[in-house]
Amino acid sequence: MTPIWHVDIIKNGNMHVFFPFFHKAYVDKYLHCERGENNMHDHLCKILYSKEQLQTKAQELGEQITADYQNKSLVVIGILKGAVIFLSDLIREIKLPLELDFMVISSYGKSTHASGVVRILKDLDKDIAGKDVLIVEDIVDTGLTLSYLKENLHTRGPASMKICTLLDKPSRRKVILNPDYRGYSIPDEFAVGYGMDYGERYRNLPYVGVLKPEYIVINEQT
Ligand code: IMP
Ligand code: MG
Repeated sequence: MTPIWHVDIIKNGNMHVFFPFFHKAYVDKYLHCERGENNMHDHLCKILYSKEQLQTKAQELGEQITADYQNKSLVVIGILKGAVIFLSDLIREIKLPLELDFMVISSYGKSTHASGVVRILKDLDKDIAGKDVLIVEDIVDTGLTLSYLKENLHTRGPASMKICTLLDKPSRRKVILNPDYRGYSIPDEFAVGYGMDYGERYRNLPYVGVLKPEYIVINEQT
């Protein structure tokens, strides 16, 4: 079906002649569509990293990690949900036996700014004592989430602990936290896609972009 044709009819004012009973339905469906509200791509003001760039980056980081973790007991910990797409690309580029575990940490809700409140919603399934832990994140912003997490995991006695993040916003840091592996440093912009969300949406975009300001609801507590 081609929405444009119907939209043209509405715009030309001939609507009531041709579709007297469908006026509201067509306006709702097709004008809405024409404004791009059903198309996630149109919500972005720019693309930061393409699917191809992200794949190459995952490969580079995977090679580095493979070289660094020879003969270690590597446990990769993915921070859900944001890290899941990056993590799935990354671990396929790590050519070593590894264990995979996940945590769910909450610090944001629907807001784009850190609340400073960090909670573990899902803990690890396995013990990490004596293991070489690699935490995989989508993005480090204030650093509050990971600094809390590092402290918490440290008490469980891992042999080592490192952080790998796809994106880093160093200008927003509130605590000292330096990722050991970093895909890209970005300025203070709200990124979505490739696992990253705004209000739980946009995670399935295959690239990373920046949301247009009109799609960000200002509801900040900090
Ligand atoms: P931090 O504790 O402030 O470092 O927050 C880290 C978490 O906030 C990340 O794991 C993301 O889930 C979320 N976050 C921070 N910045 C962004 C962003 O630009 N886009 C999407 N999520 C973000
Ligand atoms: Mg995250």
